[in-house]
Amino acid sequence: MRSLLARIRRKLARIAASSATRPPSSRNQAIERIQRRPGQLVPWLDLIGLVRADFPDSLREQVLSHDLTRSGVILCFQEELQNRMSDDLQQASRRLEQEDAVLVCGEVVAEMIRLKTIAQCRDAHAEGNYYRDAEPYIQKQWDGVIWPIIKDLDFTEVLELAPGHGRNTELLRRLAGSITLVDVNPNCIEACRERFGEHRDGCRFRYFVTDGDSLAMVESGSLTLVYSFDSMVHFDSSVVRAYVHEIARVLRPGGSAFLHHSNYGTVAPNSDWAHNPGNRSDMTADRMRGFAAEAGLDVAFQRLSGIADGWGLEDLDAFTVLRRPALA
Ligand SMILES: C[S@@+](CC[C@H](N)C(=O)[O-])C[C@H]1O[C@@H](n2cnc3c(N)ncnc32)[C@H](O)[C@@H]1O
Repeated sequence: MRSLLARIRRKLARIAASSATRPPSSRNQAIERIQRRPGQLVPWLDLIGLVRADFPDSLREQVLSHDLTRSGVILCFQEELQNRMSDDLQQASRRLEQEDAVLVCGEVVAEMIRLKTIAQCRDAHAEGNYYRDAEPYIQKQWDGVIWPIIKDLDFTEVLELAPGHGRNTELLRRLAGSITLVDVNPNCIEACRERFGEHRDGCRFRYFVTDGDSLAMVESGSLTLVYSFDSMVHFDSSVVRAYVHEIARVLRPGGSAFLHHSNYGTVAPNSDWAHNPGNRSDMTADRMRGFAAEAGLDVAFQRLSGIADGWGLEDLDAFTVLRRPALA
């Protein structure tokens, strides 16, 4: 807890330091500042603030809901985002010489939101208490909700995305030949490695930390099932979209993905997951069908999920089973 407080204090000090320069008063002044320091987040946030009135409504709403400003939570991840966006920001800065700032900033905003939500979501369950408290509920959720949907799927080579401390893995391992565990939080991967080791009762385990939207460590066409329960509900739709494309790549022909995701985007389509009920994201069942079509996957099953499944709101979530078409 003390290290958490120290981290928050350091972040607040950084935010105060970055706000020390007065914001620019015109677009031209903001662009000049970006061109002097293209890889820095704050000058971009200033320009976004100056052009956002000209954004399409949905993008403007996203800028507001994610608070992409000098005082927003995004600055808690300033260094990380500057590192990850460095090339994109340099390139975008050059484009400002020729192209409309509204267009260029729109693309920068989309990338900022994707990376901010990955970092936020990674750190949200950094402490172990959540996992200890959630563990006792999984058997009931498995028996009542999960198993009826997945019982006919092929468990030969499974990837579990975002396993936390492995409460789903404990049930999956009894069915699986191998399980590849992929999480953005290294502590979760370490907790699972300690819990399951390399082999357990005939099931082999592999462990990987992801950068938050890729399965680059997994061979193409190698898996029969991708499984994710009670994690993707928090992932921004841009992150889910990237994962759906990765899932299409790593599944064998005929393989499936069981994905539990948010449907709260039907209520607040441009929202920030961190402010929504149950920290649900802007995903919807409809968006999932669109991403599946883009990635060449079939939707084998989909249903909405709400109070009867134990969530606080009707139709808060959705369960979708995607299938990679079998070879003809
Ligand atoms: C609420 S916990 C749920 C864990 C587990 N599925 C369960 O039911 O107990 C969310 C998990 O998602 C992981 N996570 C968050 N964002 C992620 C991302 N972009 N990619 C992969 N894992 C992510 C977190 O590290 C955490 O392990």
